[in-house]
Amino acid sequence: MYGNDFSGPDDAAGGLLSQVEAAEAALREAAARGLSRSDGDGPPPGVELQDHFTALIEADQKIEPRDWMPDSYRRALIRQIAQHAHSEIIGMQPEGNWITRAPSLKRKAILLAKVQDEAGHGLYLYAAAETLGVTRDELVDLLLTGRQKYSSIFNYPTLTWADVGAIGWLVDGAAIVNQVPLCRCSYGPYARAMIRVCKEESFHQRQGYEILHTLAHGTPAQRAMAQDAVDRWWYPSLAMFGPPDADSTHSAQSMAWKIKRFSNDELRQRFVDMCVQQAEILGLRLPDPDLRWNEERQAHDYTQPDYDELMRVIKGDGPCNRQRMEHRRRAHTDGAWVREAAAAYAAKRSADPTAVAA
Ligand SMILES: [Fe+2]
Ligand SMILES: [Fe+2]
Repeated sequence: MYGNDFSGPDDAAGGLLSQVEAAEAALREAAARGLSRSDGDGPPPGVELQDHFTALIEADQKIEPRDWMPDSYRRALIRQIAQHAHSEIIGMQPEGNWITRAPSLKRKAILLAKVQDEAGHGLYLYAAAETLGVTRDELVDLLLTGRQKYSSIFNYPTLTWADVGAIGWLVDGAAIVNQVPLCRCSYGPYARAMIRVCKEESFHQRQGYEILHTLAHGTPAQRAMAQDAVDRWWYPSLAMFGPPDADSTHSAQSMAWKIKRFSNDELRQRFVDMCVQQAEILGLRLPDPDLRWNEERQAHDYTQPDYDELMRVIKGDGPCNRQRMEHRRRAHTDGAWVREAAAAYAAKRSADPTAVAA
C-alpha cells in the first residue's frame, strides 16, 4: 500500500494538509495586503512603535525581523522556537535507534529519510530563531547546559520495531495537530518554517500509520507488538500538548500575540477525536477504558495523562533523559572538527572569493 492507494490519516483527519495549504494561501494574502509602512521598516509617521505592532497583530499581518517588537514578544518566541528546534534534533535519537534494525531495505530507506527530515526541521527552526538576534551557538549551549528544554516525549525508549510505527502515528500526529495552527503564527519566519515542516510531518505520520497497519494485520505476535507500542505511547503523546489550561503559564499572552491560536486542552481534544477514528481503521485499541463519545459536547471524553509524570520527565527524570543528553553532548564534541572546517572555509572565502574554487 503506497501513496494515494492508501486511505491514511490525512483522509481520516479531515485533511490536515489542506489546512496547511489554506494557511499558506493566507500568508500570501497577508503579504499582499501589507499595512502601509512609511519607509518599509517602521510605523507611518506619528504612530507609536507599540501601537503599530499591536495594529499589525490585530490585522493578521506578520511581524518580520526588521519590525520593532516588544522585548517580551522576542524572548517568548526565542524560547518557543529554540525548544522546538531542540526537540527536532533530540527527537532523531529514539528512531535513529532502529535504523540498523529496520526489518527491510524499504523500511530502512524510509526511516533514514524521516530521521533526516527531523534534522532539517531543526535547522529551519534554528535559522528562524536566529532572525530574532540570537546565535545558533548560544542556543545549542542553552540545550547542552540544560537551561533550555526539549519535548518530554523523546525521553521514552523505543523498545520494539512497532514503536517506530507508534511514534510516527501518535508523536508526529500530535506534533502536526500542535503545529498546523503555528502556520498562522504572527511571526513570519516561524509561520513559514512551519508550513514546510507540517507538510513533511504529514508524511511522517502516514509512514508510522502504515507500519502499524501492516503489523496489526500480520501475525498474532506482530499484532500484539503493535498494540503494546500503542499502549505505551498513548499517554505520553497526550502529554505532548502540555499541562492543562488551568496550569499553563505562557498560554494567555501567547494567544494574545497570536503565536498560539488554540489552548493546550483544545488541541489535546482535537488529537483524541482524530485518533479514535484512525485507531478503528487500524484495528487497534486506545488504552483508555473511559474513552467514549459525548453527544452533548460532540467530542470524546477521555482520561487525562499523568501530569505529575510529565513534570518529572520535564525536570530530567524520565527513563532516557540522561542518555539523550549524553548522546547529544558526545555528538556535539565529535562534530567540533566539522564546525572548525566550515569556519575556516568561510574565512578563506571572505578573504579571497576566487581562491576557494581552486
Ligand atoms: Fe519534525
Ligand atoms: Fe516528524
